[in-house]
Amino acid sequence: MSHASSSTLKRRHELVRRETKARSLDALLVTSPANITYLTNFTGSAAIVLLTLDDVAFLTDSRYAAAMSDTRGTPWECPDLSLVVIEGSYDAALVAATVERGWSRIGFEAGHMTVSRFQWLEAHLTQAHGCTLAPTEGFVEAFRIVKDDYEKDVLREAGRRLSQAAARVLAGIRAGMSECDLAFVIEGHMRESGFVRPAFETIVASGPNAALPHARPTERKLTEGDLVVLDFGGVYDSYCVDLTRTVAIGAASVRSREVYQAVLAAHDRALAAVGPGQSRFAVDAAARDALADAGMREAFGHGTGHGLGIEVHEDPRIVRRRPDADMRRERLEPGMVFTIEPGAYFPGWGGVRIENDVLVTDSGAELLTEVRMDLLEIHPSR
Ligand code: GLY
Ligand code: MN
Repeated sequence: MSHASSSTLKRRHELVRRETKARSLDALLVTSPANITYLTNFTGSAAIVLLTLDDVAFLTDSRYAAAMSDTRGTPWECPDLSLVVIEGSYDAALVAATVERGWSRIGFEAGHMTVSRFQWLEAHLTQAHGCTLAPTEGFVEAFRIVKDDYEKDVLREAGRRLSQAAARVLAGIRAGMSECDLAFVIEGHMRESGFVRPAFETIVASGPNAALPHARPTERKLTEGDLVVLDFGGVYDSYCVDLTRTVAIGAASVRSREVYQAVLAAHDRALAAVGPGQSRFAVDAAARDALADAGMREAFGHGTGHGLGIEVHEDPRIVRRRPDADMRRERLEPGMVFTIEPGAYFPGWGGVRIENDVLVTDSGAELLTEVRMDLLEIHPSR
């Protein structure tokens, strides 16, 4: 298992600190587990980070304090870490640390704070000690959207491993297997390829079930005439990758081929629209227009893609330009990583989705996943 080096973490801290200073904050209170991982390499389930202008106050309890290194003894390498081991409540320790250091204005992650926790902190910090709690939105996420060199390397390796697992999955599909059986096989291949866990619930959707973009696997058996959507992803060194292929059981019908070719064209046109300075809405429109050209505009309801990183769904969102869309960071930048996953779904009939992961480079796009893209027909007696 690898993790970001001390110098990589230091660079991330400096970026966040610059913004913390610009907003006249004494510290940023980080409660999002993904943001804590990004800033410290910590992957446990309980900690609070206060990124100050000169250190990283790390509050955790004895379960994790004892594990300041991973199971193989590798330290996290987090620079300027000031460990606070909590004996009672996390929030009481947070108040004590704040008062002790004399901070008067702390930013917090409004999207990662419950109302009850906020109310408690307001009573115990603001009312009791005059410390202002300033809400922030997407503070650390704004840096995570562009991957640094370490993250690009991990995501490349994760993409390579997921592609390897996918090739094995495609080679092992048999008519008569149930969706649940195949999901189990997929997860086994992911583990054999080095993933510690699935990044989301594996999707195997056959026949009419393939019309549901996020179908759960059932006991339905793969049957001649089906299209089967396989959508799976894993977590490798804390980073998520995600891939979808659609296969036919037996010879694909003319309609199945038509739908498959339309989705493939949508994928290819979206991919061709990826590059630095390009609009993420234009990437979505390229996929949508390709399906519209095939008379399938209405069959594609979801977004074309989502960012990948410590979380499986993060920014940038490759979605329709709509009045309610978040317009920030419209332009793609080198280092952004996201999926391209158009689909076409027809209730009662089935559907097709094709998904790859892509990294925006200085000159265009680099595919992180590479597995056959033609329509694989599984011979029913294979
Ligand atoms: N591949 C599953 C998802 O993106 O939600
Ligand atoms: Mn996806």
